[in-house]
Amino acid sequence: MVFLGPPGAGKGTMAVRVADAASIPHISTGDIFRFNIKNQTDLGKKVKAILDSGELVPDTVTIELVQDRLQKDDARSGFILDGFPRTIPQADALGKMVTLDRVINFELSDEEVVKRLSGRRVHPGSGRTYHVLFSPPRVEGKDDETGEPLVQRDDDKEEAIINRLKVYREQTQPLIDYYRSRGMLVDLDSSPAPDSVYAALADLLALNRA
Ligand code: AP5
Repeated sequence: MVFLGPPGAGKGTMAVRVADAASIPHISTGDIFRFNIKNQTDLGKKVKAILDSGELVPDTVTIELVQDRLQKDDARSGFILDGFPRTIPQADALGKMVTLDRVINFELSDEEVVKRLSGRRVHPGSGRTYHVLFSPPRVEGKDDETGEPLVQRDDDKEEAIINRLKVYREQTQPLIDYYRSRGMLVDLDSSPAPDSVYAALADLLALNRA
């Protein structure tokens, strides 16, 4: 399945829980790019400025990366794609790679997006995500598991957030109609608190809520 929606809508937060409950991998193209940036690979060096500004990585690069990832053994019995596809060419390419069950459309207003992204803090080692108000760590600024410092993503600064919303509207939002017209889209109100959003999603996907 695919998790579609604006930046900060909670796709990553829910993907971690659903992947765990359904025992399928959570494949986030954003996480893959950030991993490469952190490890200063050739791909990381190529995409760092693009991610920092909130623009999209070129389709050719992203499609090849997803194609390779979906061929791994762990994706054979299902997967959650979080942040891919983001353009019509990416969706067309994905349609040639796999048959999708569902596309979940996470709905959230721009105002809430800005609140969520500006308060987000992440643990760089694990990708664990917190929010200073909505899901704070037990000790301010520290990861619950390791006690290591939390950081703010470079693209969670105000200027990049505004650009990410613009890019989302222009290039990704058309995918809502693309998948709706194919009968694959399910809308999900992602404005309630995380546990309520997860409960709605678990019902939708017939998952165990634990
Ligand atoms: P990516 O990492 O995919 O970023 P994104 O789509 O902008 O999504 P986010 O990770 O910002 O948000 P999310 O919806 O996962 O929200 P989260 O769960 O963290 O992509 C980054 C960049 O990589 C792109 O800009 C682009 O450059 C590049 N890229 C990636 N994929 C690409 C592609 N396919 N093609 C081209 N380029 C690509 O939640 C946000 C915050 O809200 C957190 O603090 C969380 O704790 C909190 N929160 C979550 N749910 C709730 C809730 N229900 N109530 C209150 N708070 C909540």
